[in-house]
Amino acid sequence: MSRTVYVNGDYLPEEEAKISVFDRGFLFADAVYEVTSVLGGKLIDFDGHAKRLERSLGELGMPMPMSRDALLQIHRRLAQENDLEDGLIYLQVTRGAADRDFAYPAPDTPQSVVLFTQSKPGLADAPQSRTGIKVVTVPDERWGRRDIKTVQLLYPSMGKMAAKARGADDAWMVEDGAVTEGTSNNAYIVRDGVIVTRHLGTEILHGITRAAVLRFAREAQMRVEERAFTVEEALSADEAFVTSASAFVMPVVEIDGQRIGTGAPGRVATRLREIYLEESRKVAV
Ligand code: PDD
Repeated sequence: MSRTVYVNGDYLPEEEAKISVFDRGFLFADAVYEVTSVLGGKLIDFDGHAKRLERSLGELGMPMPMSRDALLQIHRRLAQENDLEDGLIYLQVTRGAADRDFAYPAPDTPQSVVLFTQSKPGLADAPQSRTGIKVVTVPDERWGRRDIKTVQLLYPSMGKMAAKARGADDAWMVEDGAVTEGTSNNAYIVRDGVIVTRHLGTEILHGITRAAVLRFAREAQMRVEERAFTVEEALSADEAFVTSASAFVMPVVEIDGQRIGTGAPGRVATRLREIYLEESRKVAV
């Protein structure tokens, strides 16, 4: 069945939704995006995603195309029109369509705004959350402003394919010997009860799930260290996991073919997943 998607003010069947070939998102990856999860028909952490969208746009000299509330209403209407119970809502804002030129077009060029839904029945109960996933490490060859959520996703996509070619589920990217993050998630290890994850900076995306999970961990009196960690540290960790809007908290049980801990999802990751899902559902909108 065809989805209803949102394009520049219109709600259209997906076959009829069109974007210009001159759109700067298409020609220059001059665009930012957000992915918000939906559980039980409600948006998880919408406010965090809207704030990060505003920040990403601001870092690229673009304004918000509309108010946060107007964005929320579009998300809600799309979820309703597509009977979205569990799944994701993708949002992309580009600098708009203009004749190809490296210089930005005039500031009054209308931005393009696109949203669509992806239905994922049982998203919160993914079988992988019970078995854990396998990751491999690859060099981090992305640009230097990974804190801006741009649509330049070719390298992460190549990382994902490299992982699959090596019989794994995902890749962790490594720079100067330290893990930055996963292809589309933030990376963590647990050693002697301490949760370790890369500190914020321009090297990683400031995950909305990461912020919530670290807050819940601290509230539960768990110890958290925000710092770089090496692949060697990860290989000898008790546990590893990743977080994202689409995977929530996902245990990692193997890195580069080496088993982590017991080779089964760890206690900390499992508990954090439970807390995250429970608390986030309570305040979903
Ligand atoms: N990716 N790091 C990267 C590189 C990401 O692409 C993502 C999210 C995250 C986690 O951020 P958050 O918790 O806000 O989802 C970290 C989304 C899910 C995607 O590209 O589909």
